[in-house]
Amino acid sequence: MADTIHVLNGPNLNLLGTREPEIYGRTTLADIERMCRETAAAHGIDIVFRQTNFEGELVTQLQEARGSLGVVLNAGAYTHTSIALADAIKAAGLNVVEVHLSNVFAREAFRHHSFLSPVARGVICGFGAEGYRLAIAALAASRAK
Ligand code: DQA
Repeated sequence: MADTIHVLNGPNLNLLGTREPEIYGRTTLADIERMCRETAAAHGIDIVFRQTNFEGELVTQLQEARGSLGVVLNAGAYTHTSIALADAIKAAGLNVVEVHLSNVFAREAFRHHSFLSPVARGVICGFGAEGYRLAIAALAASRAK
């Protein structure tokens, strides 16, 4: 349990590969899952990898990550709207790395605010799928200390 990382993906991320490729690239969510599993395995860590389009489902998935090493969370647009997700992170006492494929600060103003950043351990954005790998490495390093 303590050596498990939950990688949770929110709305529309199931469409990666075809969704606005000029912003999100051609990498699919299945590609990202493969990268995450490889990176985690190299650190001796297990992965739970999930995607949902529903806000309440993400709340449940965050609650289910209680007791894990940490969560890599790309909450998609719920990042910018969801107090429920912020509450879930606090309530479950999670070590969360907030990840965004795109550099949200170089985009529309409504993407500049995150309800999740204040309750996250750290934030990685703008490095595409590589951000997931960096997040897993960061959580693995936090375990070593
Ligand atoms: C995103 C950025 C969000 O603003 C957007 O709503 C997404 C994807 C990203 O990975 O860059 O769905 O989280």
